[in-house]
This record gives sequence, structure tokens and C-alpha cells, in this order.
Amino acid sequence: MLDTVSAMKLVIAGKGGSGKTSISGTMARLLGRDGYGVLAIDADSNPNLALTLGVPAEEMGKVPTLPRDLLRRTPEGTELAKTIEEICKSHSLPAPDNVTLLVMAHPQHAGTG
Ligand SMILES: Nc1ncnc2c1ncn2[C@@H]1O[C@H](COP(=O)(O)OP(=O)(O)O)[C@@H](O)[C@H]1O
Ligand SMILES: [Mg+2]
Repeated sequence: MLDTVSAMKLVIAGKGGSGKTSISGTMARLLGRDGYGVLAIDADSNPNLALTLGVPAEEMGKVPTLPRDLLRRTPEGTELAKTIEEICKSHSLPAPDNVTLLVMAHPQHAGTG
């Protein structure tokens, strides 16, 4: 099926401790190893996807937090003020296996779970 689509968006949400981060990280890395470009976005308020993606611990704190003015209100709704490419250029972190990580929030101490 993947051969017939140019882009696939997958959202994983659910109960805490149910395996969301483990499944997300594993899927991202497997797709990346198969040659797909993967943008993994960690929207958890306690983000730790970086760990599962294999980003070294010392790299994790280096990604700048996404600024609030990235979102713009229009009469039709909310939209991004920049393109996803521009956002990734300034705010993403390269991870192993062809995966790029974008972290939406940065608490001081992210744990697992
Ligand atoms: N298939 C699995 N079998 C056993 N333990 C798992 C499995 N998937 C995840 N875990 C463990 O369960 C805990 C919670 O997983 P995690 O992916 O962090 O969940 P979530 O992101 O939903 O909070 C972690 O300690 C993780 O290592
Ligand atoms: Mg998690």
C-alpha cells in the first residue's frame, strides 16, 4: 500500500503507559530503514520519543521549543505561519534510520512512560 501513496500521516494517541511511544518509535525506524523519509512529531507534554528513536541523551535537550507564533488564526481556522520545511530547518533533530524528530514541548526533565 505504501508504494501507492506519496505521504502518509499517522497519529498515535491513547492511555498513558499503553505503548504509544514504543510503537511510534519502532514504526518510524522501520519505515525509515525501508527508505521512506519519516518526520516523527512528539506532541506529548512529557516527550520521550527521542529515546526510542535512538537520539543520544546529550542531544535531546538541544532542540529549541516551538514558538507560539507558529500558529496563525484565520477566519477559516488555525494554520501554520511557516511551512513544515521551514519549521524543520530550525527546530528538528536528525535521528538514526532516516527519521527526523520534531518535539512540540520541552519540560525540564522528561521521563519515560
Ligand atoms: N509490547 C510491549 N511489551 C512489553 N512492554 C512494553 C511493550 N510496549 C511498551 N512496553 C513498555 O511499557 C512502558 C510504557 O510504554 P510507552 O511506549 O512509554 O507507553 P506510552 O507512550 O503509551 O506512555 C515502557 O516501559 C515500555 O518499555
Ligand atoms: Mg509516551
